[in-house]
Amino acid sequence: MITTQPQGVTPPIRLLGVALLFSTFFLPALSVDRSNFKTCDQSSFCKRQRKLEPGSSPYRAVLGSAKLSADKLEIQLIDDKNQVSLLLEVFGLNGNMTRIKINEINPLKPRYEVPDVLLGTPIPANLQVTGQDDNTLELSLGGAEHKLLVTGTPFRLDILSGRDLVLSVNSRGLLHFERLRERKDTDTEKTDVPPEGDDGNPGEEEATKEEESKKVDEDEPGMWDETFKTHTDTKPNGPSSVGLDFSLPGFEHVYGIPEHADNLRLRTTESTDPYRLYNLDVFQYELYNTMALYGSVPLLLAHNVQRTLGIFWLNAAETWVDISSNTAGKTLLGKMFQYIHGGGETPQTDVRWMSESGIIDVFVLLGPTPHDVFKQYASLTGTQSLPPYFSLGYHQCRWNYNDEDDVRNVDAGFDEHDLPYDVIWLDIEHADGKRYFTWDPHKFPTPKDMLSNLKDKRRKMVAIVDPHIKIDSGYRIHNEIRSRGFYVKNKDGGDYEGWCWPGSAAYPDFTNPEMRAWWSSMFAYDQYEGSTENLFVWNDMNEPSVFNGPEVTMHKDAIHWGGWEHRDIHNLYGLYVQKATADGLIQRSGGKERPFVLTRAFFAGSQRYGAVWTGDNAAEWDHLKISIPMCLSLSLVGISFCGADVGGFFKNPETELLVRWYQAGAYQPFFRAHAHLDTPRREPWLHGDDNLKLIREVLQQRYALLPFWYTEFYRAWRDAEPVMRPLWVEFPTDVSTFAMDDQYMIGSALLVHPVTEANSRGVQIYLPGVGEVFYDVHSYQKYEAPQSFYLPVTSSSIPVYQRGGTIIPRKNRPRRSSDCMHDDPFTLHVALNLQGEARGELFIDDGHSFNYEQNEFLYREFNYSRGELKSSSLDPRGNFETSSWLERVIIIGASQPTSVTLSLLGGSETPLEFEYDAHTSVITVRKPGVNIAADFTISLR
Ligand code: NOJ
Repeated sequence: MITTQPQGVTPPIRLLGVALLFSTFFLPALSVDRSNFKTCDQSSFCKRQRKLEPGSSPYRAVLGSAKLSADKLEIQLIDDKNQVSLLLEVFGLNGNMTRIKINEINPLKPRYEVPDVLLGTPIPANLQVTGQDDNTLELSLGGAEHKLLVTGTPFRLDILSGRDLVLSVNSRGLLHFERLRERKDTDTEKTDVPPEGDDGNPGEEEATKEEESKKVDEDEPGMWDETFKTHTDTKPNGPSSVGLDFSLPGFEHVYGIPEHADNLRLRTTESTDPYRLYNLDVFQYELYNTMALYGSVPLLLAHNVQRTLGIFWLNAAETWVDISSNTAGKTLLGKMFQYIHGGGETPQTDVRWMSESGIIDVFVLLGPTPHDVFKQYASLTGTQSLPPYFSLGYHQCRWNYNDEDDVRNVDAGFDEHDLPYDVIWLDIEHADGKRYFTWDPHKFPTPKDMLSNLKDKRRKMVAIVDPHIKIDSGYRIHNEIRSRGFYVKNKDGGDYEGWCWPGSAAYPDFTNPEMRAWWSSMFAYDQYEGSTENLFVWNDMNEPSVFNGPEVTMHKDAIHWGGWEHRDIHNLYGLYVQKATADGLIQRSGGKERPFVLTRAFFAGSQRYGAVWTGDNAAEWDHLKISIPMCLSLSLVGISFCGADVGGFFKNPETELLVRWYQAGAYQPFFRAHAHLDTPRREPWLHGDDNLKLIREVLQQRYALLPFWYTEFYRAWRDAEPVMRPLWVEFPTDVSTFAMDDQYMIGSALLVHPVTEANSRGVQIYLPGVGEVFYDVHSYQKYEAPQSFYLPVTSSSIPVYQRGGTIIPRKNRPRRSSDCMHDDPFTLHVALNLQGEARGELFIDDGHSFNYEQNEFLYREFNYSRGELKSSSLDPRGNFETSSWLERVIIIGASQPTSVTLSLLGGSETPLEFEYDAHTSVITVRKPGVNIAADFTISLR
């Protein structure tokens, strides 16, 4: 039976408002209550920063103070309005990157520098002074290609590639660094650096400067405390924000800085709020705006036909990003006219970052290709961890599967209806009164038996473990955290308390490494009672969500390990929760098994710890549509393992929407159906036979492609290649793809254009690439690119095209779960390009352990050219035994051969059976029968 209230939650009257906010009684009006979240104007630092108009910067770089070491340039920056001095450090980094750091020279207190996100100290590259005049210093950035110009007055940096200016810093003069200071009445601080030309006799000019400096330092409302709704943020450190602008001449398209429910291409924010990066639990989020959501990755990418570059702003405090452009609003025709007649401005995008605290620490990733930028960013923050194979299968979730019987029945339903699936999920109701790491004794009395039944079917379970801990002296986890002093503290030194699902809760301080180590140890089988090796974890509410906190999160003046304010670390909290959990799952296996942890909140580097989903979407067509750009934006910033709740979390999807969502979700990296507690059940067999059949087809398509998905994830782990990609990543010179986000690529081989409209009779497909061909994966129909065409669709259509020139490995035998398919035979789909060639890869290992790091894997390459398909090893270190063999080869776009033979290395040729379909130009080669690990050649004559 389904209840309308989260079971076990009986909030006191004073919290009823909050509880109602989180119930679904208001579902018909599905839109966010914007008044719960700050606008830039309501966030005092954003308002202060944004008030600053572009103009001449008050900062000058004292070129005479420049110190150059092998990899670093240090220069003092002086704010001529208040004589505060800053230190600018510029690092040349290996692999076409530059790091720019700006901090106060003698801050009143240390300012927060984000730890644990970078993999280590980036490898330096040599910096050399290559020229100098009175106001400029020219340096080569670790190689002849890139030059850095430092201009003294007003301060700016320009990065050139050859003779092209690619990026300027502070060219609009928006560097704004709020120095830490005493409150006015106690301010005894003196200016610490003499102004340029100071002879020690303050003349008239200096007196004016002093006055100006007073004005600049004048306290404004919101600097020392800030009230939003009923919450006051006491700001013992006062104003501490930092801001800086970047200009990108020649760029009109910028991307990244997730998470926002918006299009892939970022919009200009001149007439809206800036994009906000502040991890928040936004109830019923709205689409197509710049509001913050659950996670933040402060990496922005810019792309044009010549190059791609990235700006990585390493700051974990609340951050806002303004984007403006000199071409916004101009029509294509207008731009062309300008171009043809000359004299037009070079298109330019300007980006301005503003963070509440910390320092300026920014990496410029100079590409020049999209893949170079992915690699550069991954060299700093790591790549996507290789997921366990099962986690690429289908996940069945809802809030909640009610008890062990329910789990058993749903599991059986999949077998009864011939549907593959890998994982069944348990939401918060499974725990005893929302005490995570426990099981409700009535509903889940024998978790080990339940897990063992699933294991017999070679399936898994995921249970939720949230980071808010019920304050209850009878709860071991709470007692241990409290007694070890591991909770986040409030400003007065007591344990910080807030309300969340269990009622009154406290929040472990995941920034404390000892706390994380302890948390990890709780996943040991003898600590987490009832857990077994096929139980994995879901971290939710880790923004962190605090129902009665400001903007539904933690007070910024709460105190973390090391005395840092929550203000400084906010966007990192969720990353640490997922990291500690993933480490726990690794440790429980003695370091042998790969973890699976899903997180809602994230930051730069979260890709190292597991999967991310897009939170509480709704059963609406627009939410289905937005799942594509939301995941594409995440992929661009390194987080490949992304998905959206299939079916929509809130509300009840009409069957057509549900089926379309399955069809789209099957072609997104993380594929999980999920639903709110109050929604009617929606397992695949509850929608009539026709729809069941459609969903079965979808699941079978997903499972057949698992070897391909897995290989793509291996490439993501190994080479930082995003699994799901915007078209422009593959076709970087095709301008018409730059703003496209209704279709995308999986790897470089599949182009997907899901149907996301109600009653759709067709979709407009664009196939990019001059001289490319694509084949409909279902009909094998061939399309020459580039072309745009209208594709009529039926309810079973999932428009997917294999790009000519690629080879995709599949496993076509339907099974109960991915684990059951481990030794199944392969089919290779060889799609020929116009030159009659194709290439593809296959990665195989045990699918669950870290042994691939010890070379227990196979990484194979398939190459088709001049009528020969050759299989060889792509990485000779790899060694893994498999019984999987090659069952079939399908060659698409081929002409009829007279014979097909197989030869193994040094062996004789064996004739193979084949068929040719002249209508589709497809050759089906039957039963080569060779082990997939073998080097072989199949020759067509
Ligand atoms: C919020 C999550 O986003 C949702 O997926 C989950 O079902 C609920 N919390 C309850 O745990």
